[in-house]
Amino acid sequence: MSDPIAIESVLNETRVFPPSQEFSANAHIKSFEEYEKLYAEAEADPEGFWAKQAESLDWFKKWDTVLEWNEPFAKWFVGGTLNVSYNCLDRHLTTWRRNKAAIIWEGEPGEQRTLTYQQLYAEVCKFANVLKGQNVKKGDRVALYMPMVPELAIAMLACARIGATHTVIFGGFSADAIADRVNDGKVKLIVTADGGYRRGAEVTLKNTIDNALPNCPNVEAVIVFKRTGTKINMSSGRDHWWHELMAAAETECPAEELDSEHPLYILYTSGTTGKPKGILHTTGGYLTQTAYTTKMVFDLRDEDIYWCTADIGWVTGHSYVVYGPLANGATVLMYEGAPNYPDYDRFWDIIERHRVNILYTAPTAIRVFIRWGESHVLKHDISSLRLLGTVGEPINPEAWMWYHHVIGKGKCPIVDTWWQTETGAIMISPLPGATPTVPGTATRPLPGILLDIVSKSGEPAGDNEGGYLVAKHPWPSMLRTVYGDDERYKKTYWSEIPNRYFAGDGARRDERGYYWIMGRVDDVINVSGHRLGTAEVESALVSHEAVAEAAAVGRPDEVKGQAISVFVTLEGGRKGDEALKNELRAHVAKEIGALAKPDDIRFTDALPKTRSGKIMRRLLREVAAGADVAGDVTTLEDLSVLEKLRDDED
Ligand code: PRX
Repeated sequence: MSDPIAIESVLNETRVFPPSQEFSANAHIKSFEEYEKLYAEAEADPEGFWAKQAESLDWFKKWDTVLEWNEPFAKWFVGGTLNVSYNCLDRHLTTWRRNKAAIIWEGEPGEQRTLTYQQLYAEVCKFANVLKGQNVKKGDRVALYMPMVPELAIAMLACARIGATHTVIFGGFSADAIADRVNDGKVKLIVTADGGYRRGAEVTLKNTIDNALPNCPNVEAVIVFKRTGTKINMSSGRDHWWHELMAAAETECPAEELDSEHPLYILYTSGTTGKPKGILHTTGGYLTQTAYTTKMVFDLRDEDIYWCTADIGWVTGHSYVVYGPLANGATVLMYEGAPNYPDYDRFWDIIERHRVNILYTAPTAIRVFIRWGESHVLKHDISSLRLLGTVGEPINPEAWMWYHHVIGKGKCPIVDTWWQTETGAIMISPLPGATPTVPGTATRPLPGILLDIVSKSGEPAGDNEGGYLVAKHPWPSMLRTVYGDDERYKKTYWSEIPNRYFAGDGARRDERGYYWIMGRVDDVINVSGHRLGTAEVESALVSHEAVAEAAAVGRPDEVKGQAISVFVTLEGGRKGDEALKNELRAHVAKEIGALAKPDDIRFTDALPKTRSGKIMRRLLREVAAGADVAGDVTTLEDLSVLEKLRDDED
């Protein structure tokens, strides 16, 4: 069952893991033939396929047209009306799921709370009324800067209920990063908490909001959930306690009937410029694809306890902690804190105590667990697990094998899921009862998803030939635009390759048709599964008074996938030293957040540039990785700069 079957292949990776017969027999999709048949049908008629999936949602009014495509602008289920909150809550209340646990929450200090669908519904209705009481109307934007507590999901669902568009800001972002997002989104109200717990310490969220607010002129009110009880400043008239408003709120709040294309949320993500992009997702298509993929990729069944470890501040948390699972009536486990608090076995302890069945996490976490050692895992009975998933970056075969053996005990299928903030939902993944898996590949596109690997001019690549990963046909959960900037949307995603959505990733396809993601081909780096634009780090650095010019590149890192390496030239002959390095790290943390702190900083007299003045990033990447610089360097403005960079290494 668990032993790999070696196959003839030109690739290094020849281990193939077919699903076990037991798993396949009970799965939604039971064989590879069944997947291929479904795929072929959907390929011949993608609209028909997705219309069928949309039928599993509750619509107030059915759509007239499945897809309206004016490249590059898509509208799905045109003319239809529905409500995401209704689909995640109300419709379960007329079934036995009314008393089923929707969210089982564990705080880092150890508290536990369970909210049934009925209880979650009641909280969402009340908070929707609280928002209305604060003058939040359909179409307004609300920012959520919260720890991982059920109230974050409650606030999202309450926004969805009244047609307000939420923008969740990850709790690790700094005051400046918050202000950028809040202003770009013209946010009217912020929901936050006094603090949250992370690795035994308190993250003081409200203080950070206080620091952002002087630069956010449109914000009228702040609602503060009391999580830690720490002393905070409450500005009278502007700041309100969550519990006080909730105590006074009406309990009934009918879900608004919203257009299928009504904006559900904006989520900011890094790109190749210094300014993050507000990725806009809408209602009907988004929920159709997140609900469908949650059910099929995780082979979800009603009795499962499902745990996606992502923070809701990232897209994975939106689609696979909140919307996809709740639309399916699933039981979602939600954990507030760090995997090593109070000890290195916290995850396995949680899995044992709650009898978790499905675990969805990031390769970087798996590599950290490998480093901590399997003894922490072996202390616990984690035999309840039946399916494992990964997301966010390519998984190296070593981490895959460890996940398979140590966590999955050789019996759990692994779904390596490829997708992006922009795609909204999973695009490439094994179907666990059907697809034989190979460590390191997300395998095949899901039914209804039409992808290709092409050259710059759009010519399809041959087997095992590297190229650009593109979508050939719109998909329901695709981004609709970059918020407030249609031109940027066109330019970023639809101009590089003719008539194709270009995802930013390089990939190759092997002779089985399996997709191997090779990583980003643009100036975006993936640090611990989080996307960062090198331009963002650079603009943070040059905003420091000592810095004249900066270049940031990614370099391979065993645990984080990529680490951030920066090259800095200083103003007016200033000399760099350790103290300045620390100052620059702190400065970047202040400008963006701790997640963007450079791992290595090198001071240099000049940056290597082409004759046209472009920074030669490839060379910098090679220096950062410690490799010898290869290739044609004759266009270097000053060859000696490179040598100097090498000499100046930390
Ligand atoms: O490079 C790909 C990588 O993560 C990028 C998307 O990042 P983000 O929008 O933050 O969303 C992450 C969670 C969906 C992609 O362009 N990526 C994501 N999943 C995989 C992956 N690379 C390889 N394999 C994956 N399974």
